[in-house]
Amino acid sequence: MTVRSSFVVVANRLPVDEVSTPEGRQWRRSPGGLVTALHPVLAEQQGTWVGWAGGTGAAPEPFDLEGIRLHPVPLSAEELERYYEGQSNATIWPLYHDAVETPAYKRRWREAYRLVNARFAEAAADVAAEGATVWVQDYQLQLVPAMLRELRPDLKIGFFLHIPFPPIELFMQMPFRTEILRGLLGADLVGFQQRLAAQNFVRLARHLLGLRYEGQMIQVDGRQVKAGAFPISIDTREMERLAEDPAIQARAKQIREELGNPKTIILGVDRLDYTKGIELRLKAFRELLADGKLTVPDAVMVQVATPSRERVEHYQALRVKVEREVGRINGEFGRVGVPAVHYLHQSYSRSELAAMYVAADVMMVTPLRDGMNLVAKEYVASRADQGGALVLSEFAGAATELRQAFLCNPHDPDAVKDALLRAVHVEKPEARRRIRVMQRHLRTHDVGHWAKSFLTELGVPDTEAA
Ligand code: ADP
Ligand code: F6P
Repeated sequence: MTVRSSFVVVANRLPVDEVSTPEGRQWRRSPGGLVTALHPVLAEQQGTWVGWAGGTGAAPEPFDLEGIRLHPVPLSAEELERYYEGQSNATIWPLYHDAVETPAYKRRWREAYRLVNARFAEAAADVAAEGATVWVQDYQLQLVPAMLRELRPDLKIGFFLHIPFPPIELFMQMPFRTEILRGLLGADLVGFQQRLAAQNFVRLARHLLGLRYEGQMIQVDGRQVKAGAFPISIDTREMERLAEDPAIQARAKQIREELGNPKTIILGVDRLDYTKGIELRLKAFRELLADGKLTVPDAVMVQVATPSRERVEHYQALRVKVEREVGRINGEFGRVGVPAVHYLHQSYSRSELAAMYVAADVMMVTPLRDGMNLVAKEYVASRADQGGALVLSEFAGAATELRQAFLCNPHDPDAVKDALLRAVHVEKPEARRRIRVMQRHLRTHDVGHWAKSFLTELGVPDTEAA
């Protein structure tokens, strides 16, 4: 029998991983701010999370885990290729990130996107109780709000876009642009990371559909759709706790020793994605070594590049470029047993990641465009010692809040080099002052605050998300 919930989250992925245990294969809650923030609301309201469980073919039956109902949606191998790798990650992802790589447009990808979005909408319609609140997440599911409204006009529907929303000129490239916009307008509240993104959206509604708006309220088919900015954040307390843990501090010391006790550890942690500016960061490091402004082994760089979307062409090309650049730097500036760049194409546990943050003297976050960038926030929150320095691209959403970082324009190599050098040489009291101000901000603006402000705006009473 289908369990009906008064609160439903719909996202491309379910917040679970399938792991092998001595008792066989089991589901485990995956780490991540979104599920942490929404868990209290979901648990309290017997909520359901609708999403893809990974893999292809038949989906597992719905199941309960830690007080949440998980409702898997199946994807076939062909849908995975066309809806996820194609339309979501080779069309929409690059287009919404300023077209830093060329978006590809294919009819069959769009068709699969429509079909899969309809499947998610139907699943949400099945599990939502009368008058329930449904919160749809991200760019993979932009048609869901309108499809769901069509099926269930009684629902309160929210949508949050985790990635940037492009200016009109770029959005207009998209072949099925009107359908996407209409899809989003099916929601009662459309949330973005940035105020500018919300403005792009309301202006687009007027430009493309001639809709009237006042402030951020759009009039559509006799309804009102509100747009707004709700910058997402991290579980700040969890990050602070990890960083204060003596075992993690010991591991951070050990990492420094393993790296040969350098004066300066420069760290990058990203999915291996062309939006993240990994190459330009490596190039800045190489040029500083060539200029003699940094030297090995006093300074070493650690670049964690998490495997991501590995069957998409631009990602394959990026991997080749990044690995070539790492090889070049190590070839020119490394010595036997002393590489200049430690390149790690792997996933890590939260605690190992926290130990890396604690060990790093300078964190480099240099995306060409990023909706938010949680790594930047995690690094700041992990510096219980109030040491460390953050180099941050102006084109990351996080730059709007983390103003005390060493901000730079990632398109300008000299600006990146300058910010990196300033961060390497910053005096301790100055570094502490900067980190402290940013930490204070993150304590009040954590992921619970994000969820609560969105749901309050959507009109969900007494949200216990914080
Ligand atoms: P995006 O959502 O584009 O991947 P964010 O920086 O906003 O970028 O979020 C990335 C999240 O993934 C962070 O919470 C970060 O801690 C985590 N993460 C990044 N790299 C790794 C890794 N190698 N192993 C485990 N978690 C990682
Ligand atoms: O932040 C954008 C995003 O696509 C999220 O939706 C997702 O959790 C993350 O990046 C990782 O991407 P993927 O689900 O494609 O592995």
